[in-house]
Amino acid sequence: MSIFARVAGTGSYLPEQRLTNQDLVERLAKTGLETSDEWITTRSGISARHFAAENELTSDLAVKAAQAALDSAGITSEDLDLIILATSTPDHLGGFPSTACVVQDKLGAHTACAAFDVQAVCAGFTYALATADAFIRAGSYKKVLVIGAETFSRILDFQDRGTCVLFGDGAGAVVLEASAKPGILSTALHADGSQRDILCVPGRSGNGAVHGSPFMTMDGQAVFKLAVKVLEQVAHEVLEKANLKPEQIDWLVPHQANIRIMEGTAKKMGMSMDKVIVTVHEHGNTSAASIPLALDVGVRSGQIQRGQHLLLEGVGGGFAWGAVALKY
Ligand code: UT7
Repeated sequence: MSIFARVAGTGSYLPEQRLTNQDLVERLAKTGLETSDEWITTRSGISARHFAAENELTSDLAVKAAQAALDSAGITSEDLDLIILATSTPDHLGGFPSTACVVQDKLGAHTACAAFDVQAVCAGFTYALATADAFIRAGSYKKVLVIGAETFSRILDFQDRGTCVLFGDGAGAVVLEASAKPGILSTALHADGSQRDILCVPGRSGNGAVHGSPFMTMDGQAVFKLAVKVLEQVAHEVLEKANLKPEQIDWLVPHQANIRIMEGTAKKMGMSMDKVIVTVHEHGNTSAASIPLALDVGVRSGQIQRGQHLLLEGVGGGFAWGAVALKY
Protein backbone atom coordinates (compact mmCIF):
# COMPACT_ATOMS: atom_id res chain seq x y z
CA MET A 1 0.00 0.00 0.00
CA SER A 2 1.32 3.47 -0.90
CA ILE A 3 2.02 5.99 1.82
CA PHE A 4 1.14 9.62 1.12
CA ALA A 5 2.11 12.83 2.88
CA ARG A 6 -1.19 14.51 3.66
CA VAL A 7 -1.70 18.08 4.85
CA ALA A 8 -3.23 17.65 8.31
CA GLY A 9 -3.17 21.32 9.31
CA THR A 10 -2.00 24.78 8.31
CA GLY A 11 -1.06 27.94 10.21
CA SER A 12 0.46 31.35 9.66
CA TYR A 13 1.60 34.45 11.45
CA LEU A 14 2.23 38.06 10.46
CA PRO A 15 4.06 40.47 12.76
CA GLU A 16 1.95 43.27 14.22
CA GLN A 17 3.66 46.18 12.49
CA ARG A 18 1.88 46.79 9.15
CA LEU A 19 3.32 49.31 6.72
CA THR A 20 1.27 50.63 3.84
CA ASN A 21 2.91 51.90 0.65
CA GLN A 22 2.28 55.43 1.89
CA ASP A 23 4.15 54.63 5.15
CA LEU A 24 7.13 53.56 3.02
CA VAL A 25 6.87 56.63 0.77
CA GLU A 26 7.21 58.80 3.90
CA ARG A 27 10.01 56.69 5.39
CA LEU A 28 12.09 56.76 2.18
CA ALA A 29 11.47 60.48 1.65
CA LYS A 30 13.42 61.12 4.86
CA THR A 31 16.56 59.85 3.13
CA GLY A 32 15.78 61.61 -0.16
CA LEU A 33 14.48 58.50 -1.96
CA GLU A 34 11.42 58.90 -4.13
CA THR A 35 8.73 56.27 -4.59
CA SER A 36 4.95 56.24 -4.78
CA ASP A 37 1.97 54.09 -3.92
CA GLU A 38 1.09 54.17 -7.61
CA TRP A 39 4.50 52.78 -8.71
CA ILE A 40 4.52 50.01 -6.11
CA THR A 41 0.91 48.98 -6.78
CA THR A 42 1.08 48.98 -10.57
CA ARG A 43 4.52 47.30 -10.82
CA SER A 44 4.01 44.67 -8.12
CA GLY A 45 0.42 44.59 -6.83
CA ILE A 46 1.66 45.27 -3.29
CA SER A 47 -0.29 47.65 -1.02
CA ALA A 48 1.10 46.72 2.40
CA ARG A 49 3.56 44.43 4.19
CA HIS A 50 4.41 43.52 7.78
CA PHE A 51 7.76 44.06 9.48
CA ALA A 52 8.92 42.17 12.57
CA ALA A 53 9.57 44.10 15.78
CA GLU A 54 13.21 44.68 16.70
CA ASN A 55 13.25 41.86 19.25
CA GLU A 56 11.24 39.45 17.07
CA LEU A 57 13.29 36.73 15.38
CA THR A 58 12.48 34.47 12.45
CA SER A 59 12.06 31.62 14.97
CA ASP A 60 9.45 33.67 16.88
CA LEU A 61 7.33 34.11 13.76
CA ALA A 62 7.87 30.43 12.89
CA VAL A 63 6.75 29.23 16.32
CA LYS A 64 3.47 31.18 16.11
CA ALA A 65 2.69 29.82 12.62
CA ALA A 66 3.72 26.31 13.71
CA GLN A 67 1.52 26.38 16.81
CA ALA A 68 -1.47 27.36 14.68
CA ALA A 69 -0.70 24.51 12.25
CA LEU A 70 -0.34 21.99 15.11
CA ASP A 71 -3.66 23.15 16.61
CA SER A 72 -5.43 22.82 13.27
CA ALA A 73 -3.96 19.32 12.82
CA GLY A 74 -5.11 18.42 16.34
CA ILE A 75 -1.67 17.31 17.48
CA THR A 76 0.98 18.72 19.83
CA SER A 77 4.66 19.47 19.25
CA GLU A 78 5.49 16.30 21.21
CA ASP A 79 3.96 14.21 18.42
CA LEU A 80 6.42 15.51 15.80
CA ASP A 81 9.14 13.35 14.24
CA LEU A 82 10.77 16.05 12.13
CA ILE A 83 10.81 19.84 11.68
CA ILE A 84 11.98 21.33 8.38
CA LEU A 85 12.22 25.11 8.21
CA ALA A 86 12.84 27.06 5.02
CA THR A 87 14.43 30.47 5.49
CA SER A 88 17.03 32.85 4.08
CA THR A 89 16.94 34.99 7.20
CA PRO A 90 17.90 32.56 9.97
CA ASP A 91 18.18 33.67 13.60
CA HIS A 92 21.94 33.17 13.65
CA LEU A 93 24.77 34.25 11.39
CA GLY A 94 25.68 31.46 9.04
CA GLY A 95 22.39 29.79 9.94
CA PHE A 96 24.13 28.08 12.85
CA PRO A 97 22.48 26.69 14.96
CA SER A 98 19.64 26.08 12.53
CA THR A 99 16.46 28.06 13.11
CA ALA A 100 14.61 24.72 13.01
CA CYS A 101 16.52 23.67 16.15
CA VAL A 102 15.60 26.96 17.84
CA VAL A 103 11.95 26.34 16.88
CA GLN A 104 12.10 22.78 18.21
CA ASP A 105 13.18 24.14 21.60
CA LYS A 106 10.73 27.07 21.67
CA LEU A 107 7.82 24.77 20.70
CA GLY A 108 8.76 22.29 23.40
CA ALA A 109 8.97 19.53 20.81
CA HIS A 110 10.48 16.20 21.77
CA THR A 111 14.28 16.34 21.63
CA ALA A 112 14.25 13.11 19.64
CA CYS A 113 12.53 15.04 16.84
CA ALA A 114 14.95 15.80 14.00
CA ALA A 115 15.22 19.42 12.86
CA PHE A 116 17.00 21.20 10.03
CA ASP A 117 16.83 24.26 7.79
CA VAL A 118 16.43 24.35 4.03
CA GLN A 119 17.90 27.22 2.02
CA ALA A 120 16.33 27.76 -1.38
CA VAL A 121 15.23 31.40 -0.87
CA CYS A 122 11.74 32.01 -2.33
CA ALA A 123 11.56 28.40 -3.56
CA GLY A 124 12.41 27.24 -0.03
CA PHE A 125 8.96 26.07 0.93
CA THR A 126 8.57 23.89 -2.17
CA TYR A 127 12.01 22.38 -1.44
CA ALA A 128 11.07 21.77 2.21
CA LEU A 129 7.72 20.23 1.30
CA ALA A 130 9.29 17.94 -1.31
CA THR A 131 11.91 16.84 1.24
CA ALA A 132 9.27 16.12 3.88
CA ASP A 133 7.21 14.20 1.30
CA ALA A 134 10.21 12.01 0.42
CA PHE A 135 10.87 11.19 4.09
CA ILE A 136 7.21 10.30 4.69
CA ARG A 137 6.85 8.17 1.55
CA ALA A 138 10.06 6.33 2.47
CA GLY A 139 8.46 5.44 5.81
CA SER A 140 11.12 7.33 7.81
CA TYR A 141 8.78 9.78 9.56
CA LYS A 142 5.04 10.02 10.21
CA LYS A 143 4.45 13.56 11.45
CA VAL A 144 6.46 16.39 9.93
CA LEU A 145 6.19 20.12 10.54
CA VAL A 146 7.19 22.16 7.48
CA ILE A 147 7.67 25.88 8.00
CA GLY A 148 8.56 28.85 5.81
CA ALA A 149 9.59 31.86 7.92
CA GLU A 150 11.36 35.10 7.11
CA THR A 151 12.42 38.45 8.51
CA PHE A 152 13.47 39.89 5.14
CA SER A 153 13.15 43.44 6.50
CA ARG A 154 16.55 42.79 8.16
CA ILE A 155 18.34 42.35 4.83
CA LEU A 156 16.59 45.15 2.92
CA ASP A 157 18.67 48.10 1.77
CA PHE A 158 16.47 51.14 2.41
CA GLN A 159 18.69 53.07 -0.02
CA ASP A 160 17.56 50.75 -2.85
CA ARG A 161 14.00 51.63 -3.82
CA GLY A 162 13.97 48.84 -6.41
CA THR A 163 13.92 46.18 -3.66
CA CYS A 164 12.99 47.66 -0.27
CA VAL A 165 9.37 48.31 -1.23
CA LEU A 166 8.74 44.73 -2.31
CA PHE A 167 9.46 42.50 0.68
CA GLY A 168 7.89 41.77 4.05
CA ASP A 169 8.12 39.46 7.06
CA GLY A 170 5.94 36.52 8.09
CA ALA A 171 5.67 32.78 8.56
CA GLY A 172 3.50 29.91 7.41
CA ALA A 173 3.48 26.25 8.35
CA VAL A 174 1.88 22.92 7.51
CA VAL A 175 1.72 19.65 9.39
CA LEU A 176 2.18 16.67 7.08
CA GLU A 177 1.05 13.23 8.22
CA ALA A 178 1.65 9.80 6.75
CA SER A 179 -1.67 8.61 5.33
CA ALA A 180 -3.15 5.94 3.09
CA LYS A 181 -5.13 8.73 1.41
CA PRO A 182 -3.50 11.28 -0.94
CA GLY A 183 -1.75 13.73 -0.19
CA ILE A 184 1.12 15.16 -2.06
CA LEU A 185 0.88 13.68 -5.57
CA SER A 186 4.10 14.92 -7.16
CA THR A 187 7.00 17.31 -6.68
CA ALA A 188 9.59 18.88 -8.98
CA LEU A 189 12.66 20.87 -7.95
CA HIS A 190 15.27 22.64 -10.08
CA ALA A 191 18.17 25.07 -9.76
CA ASP A 192 20.53 27.01 -11.99
CA GLY A 193 23.50 28.31 -10.02
CA SER A 194 24.88 30.14 -13.05
CA GLN A 195 22.11 32.72 -12.43
CA ARG A 196 23.02 33.23 -8.76
CA ASP A 197 24.05 36.89 -9.17
CA ILE A 198 20.66 38.23 -10.29
CA LEU A 199 19.17 37.83 -6.81
CA CYS A 200 21.55 37.53 -3.89
CA VAL A 201 23.13 38.89 -0.74
CA PRO A 202 26.66 39.50 -2.09
CA GLY A 203 28.50 39.91 1.24
CA ARG A 204 30.49 37.28 3.13
CA SER A 205 31.37 37.23 6.81
CA GLY A 206 34.88 36.43 7.94
CA ASN A 207 37.32 37.33 10.70
CA GLY A 208 34.63 39.21 12.60
CA ALA A 209 33.56 41.47 9.71
CA VAL A 210 31.22 41.53 6.75
CA HIS A 211 33.01 41.78 3.43
CA GLY A 212 30.71 43.17 0.73
CA SER A 213 27.07 44.18 1.09
CA PRO A 214 24.95 42.47 3.77
CA PHE A 215 21.79 43.53 1.90
CA MET A 216 19.88 41.71 -0.80
CA THR A 217 20.31 42.91 -4.37
CA MET A 218 18.13 42.05 -7.34
CA ASP A 219 18.10 42.55 -11.08
CA GLY A 220 14.30 42.78 -11.14
CA GLN A 221 13.81 42.44 -14.87
CA ALA A 222 16.15 39.45 -15.23
CA VAL A 223 14.42 37.72 -12.30
CA PHE A 224 11.00 38.53 -13.75
CA LYS A 225 11.81 37.02 -17.17
CA LEU A 226 13.38 33.87 -15.78
CA ALA A 227 10.62 33.43 -13.18
CA VAL A 228 7.80 33.51 -15.74
CA LYS A 229 9.64 30.98 -17.93
CA VAL A 230 10.59 28.42 -15.28
CA LEU A 231 7.30 28.60 -13.38
CA GLU A 232 5.37 27.56 -16.47
CA GLN A 233 7.82 24.72 -17.16
CA VAL A 234 7.79 23.37 -13.62
CA ALA A 235 3.99 23.67 -13.34
CA HIS A 236 3.52 21.50 -16.45
CA GLU A 237 6.17 19.05 -15.23
CA VAL A 238 4.61 18.51 -11.81
CA LEU A 239 1.10 18.17 -13.26
CA GLU A 240 2.28 15.61 -15.78
CA LYS A 241 3.91 13.61 -12.98
CA ALA A 242 0.64 13.72 -11.02
CA ASN A 243 -1.35 12.78 -14.12
CA LEU A 244 -3.40 15.95 -13.81
CA LYS A 245 -4.48 18.51 -16.40
CA PRO A 246 -4.38 22.24 -15.59
CA GLU A 247 -8.20 22.35 -15.66
CA GLN A 248 -8.29 19.82 -12.80
CA ILE A 249 -6.46 22.23 -10.50
CA ASP A 250 -8.87 23.94 -8.11
CA TRP A 251 -6.32 26.40 -6.70
CA LEU A 252 -2.96 27.71 -7.77
CA VAL A 253 -1.04 28.78 -4.66
CA PRO A 254 1.98 30.57 -6.10
CA HIS A 255 4.91 32.34 -4.53
CA GLN A 256 3.69 35.88 -3.91
CA ALA A 257 6.36 38.12 -5.48
CA ASN A 258 4.49 40.12 -8.06
CA ILE A 259 0.86 40.02 -9.23
CA ARG A 260 2.06 40.34 -12.83
CA ILE A 261 4.09 37.11 -12.52
CA MET A 262 1.07 35.32 -11.04
CA GLU A 263 -1.19 36.60 -13.81
CA GLY A 264 1.37 35.54 -16.42
CA THR A 265 1.61 32.01 -15.00
CA ALA A 266 -2.17 31.62 -14.67
CA LYS A 267 -2.65 32.79 -18.26
CA LYS A 268 -0.01 30.39 -19.60
CA MET A 269 -1.70 27.55 -17.68
CA GLY A 270 -5.09 28.56 -19.07
CA MET A 271 -6.34 29.22 -15.53
CA SER A 272 -8.59 32.07 -14.48
CA MET A 273 -7.31 34.41 -11.73
CA ASP A 274 -10.40 33.31 -9.74
CA LYS A 275 -8.48 30.10 -9.10
CA VAL A 276 -5.35 31.80 -7.78
CA ILE A 277 -4.83 32.52 -4.09
CA VAL A 278 -3.49 36.09 -3.94
CA THR A 279 -2.03 37.62 -0.78
CA VAL A 280 0.78 39.71 -2.27
CA HIS A 281 -1.25 42.92 -1.90
CA GLU A 282 -1.32 42.52 1.90
CA HIS A 283 1.89 40.55 2.59
CA GLY A 284 4.40 41.76 -0.01
CA ASN A 285 7.03 39.20 -0.94
CA THR A 286 7.78 37.12 2.18
CA SER A 287 10.17 34.75 0.34
CA ALA A 288 9.99 31.22 1.79
CA ALA A 289 6.98 32.18 3.92
CA SER A 290 4.80 33.36 1.06
CA ILE A 291 3.38 30.02 -0.16
CA PRO A 292 2.42 28.61 3.27
CA LEU A 293 1.03 32.03 4.26
CA ALA A 294 -1.14 32.07 1.13
CA LEU A 295 -2.14 28.44 1.67
CA ASP A 296 -3.29 29.16 5.23
CA VAL A 297 -5.22 32.25 4.12
CA GLY A 298 -6.91 30.13 1.42
CA VAL A 299 -7.80 27.38 3.91
CA ARG A 300 -9.04 29.67 6.68
CA SER A 301 -11.07 31.83 4.29
CA GLY A 302 -12.92 28.68 3.18
CA GLN A 303 -11.73 29.00 -0.42
CA ILE A 304 -9.63 25.84 -0.26
CA GLN A 305 -11.73 22.77 0.58
CA ARG A 306 -10.82 19.18 1.45
CA GLY A 307 -10.51 16.97 -1.62
CA GLN A 308 -9.47 19.80 -3.95
CA HIS A 309 -6.34 19.73 -6.10
CA LEU A 310 -3.73 22.39 -5.40
CA LEU A 311 -0.66 23.47 -7.31
CA LEU A 312 2.04 25.20 -5.26
CA GLU A 313 5.02 26.80 -6.98
CA GLY A 314 7.92 29.01 -6.03
CA VAL A 315 10.96 30.64 -7.58
CA GLY A 316 13.81 32.79 -6.35
CA GLY A 317 17.47 33.26 -5.55
CA GLY A 318 19.91 30.52 -6.36
CA PHE A 319 18.37 30.52 -8.94
CA ALA A 320 16.03 27.84 -7.53
CA TRP A 321 12.46 26.85 -8.32
CA GLY A 322 10.00 24.10 -7.54
CA ALA A 323 6.39 22.97 -7.58
CA VAL A 324 4.18 20.58 -5.63
CA ALA A 325 0.84 19.11 -6.74
CA LEU A 326 -1.39 17.82 -3.96
CA LYS A 327 -4.85 16.71 -3.02
CA TYR A 328 -5.82 18.78 0.02
O1 UT7 B 1 10.88 36.50 -4.84
C1 UT7 B 1 11.91 36.28 -5.75
C2 UT7 B 1 11.46 36.61 -7.06
N1 UT7 B 1 11.43 38.04 -7.25
C3 UT7 B 1 10.66 38.50 -8.19
O2 UT7 B 1 9.95 37.74 -8.79
C4 UT7 B 1 10.75 39.95 -8.59
C5 UT7 B 1 10.78 40.04 -10.09
N2 UT7 B 1 10.82 41.38 -10.60
C6 UT7 B 1 9.78 42.25 -10.48
O3 UT7 B 1 8.79 41.94 -9.86
C7 UT7 B 1 9.86 43.57 -11.19
O4 UT7 B 1 10.95 43.55 -12.10
C8 UT7 B 1 10.02 44.78 -10.23
C9 UT7 B 1 8.72 45.00 -9.47
C10 UT7 B 1 11.16 44.53 -9.29
C11 UT7 B 1 10.31 46.05 -11.04
O5 UT7 B 1 9.34 46.27 -12.02
P1 UT7 B 1 9.80 46.69 -13.50
O6 UT7 B 1 8.56 46.94 -14.25
O7 UT7 B 1 10.71 45.58 -13.98
O8 UT7 B 1 10.56 48.04 -13.24
P2 UT7 B 1 12.08 48.41 -13.58
O9 UT7 B 1 12.99 47.70 -12.68
O10 UT7 B 1 12.27 48.26 -15.04
O11 UT7 B 1 12.10 49.94 -13.23
C12 UT7 B 1 11.37 50.89 -14.00
C13 UT7 B 1 11.62 52.26 -13.47
C14 UT7 B 1 13.09 52.61 -13.37
O12 UT7 B 1 13.21 53.98 -13.76
P3 UT7 B 1 13.78 54.35 -15.22
O13 UT7 B 1 15.14 53.74 -15.25
O14 UT7 B 1 12.82 53.71 -16.18
O15 UT7 B 1 13.75 55.83 -15.20
C15 UT7 B 1 13.40 52.53 -11.90
O16 UT7 B 1 14.44 53.38 -11.50
O17 UT7 B 1 11.09 52.40 -12.15
C16 UT7 B 1 12.10 52.97 -11.29
N3 UT7 B 1 11.88 52.47 -9.93
C17 UT7 B 1 11.06 53.05 -9.05
N4 UT7 B 1 10.30 54.14 -9.12
C18 UT7 B 1 9.55 54.46 -8.06
C19 UT7 B 1 12.43 51.35 -9.35
N5 UT7 B 1 11.96 51.21 -8.10
C20 UT7 B 1 11.12 52.23 -7.90
C21 UT7 B 1 10.31 52.62 -6.80
N6 UT7 B 1 9.55 53.73 -6.93
N7 UT7 B 1 10.27 51.91 -5.65
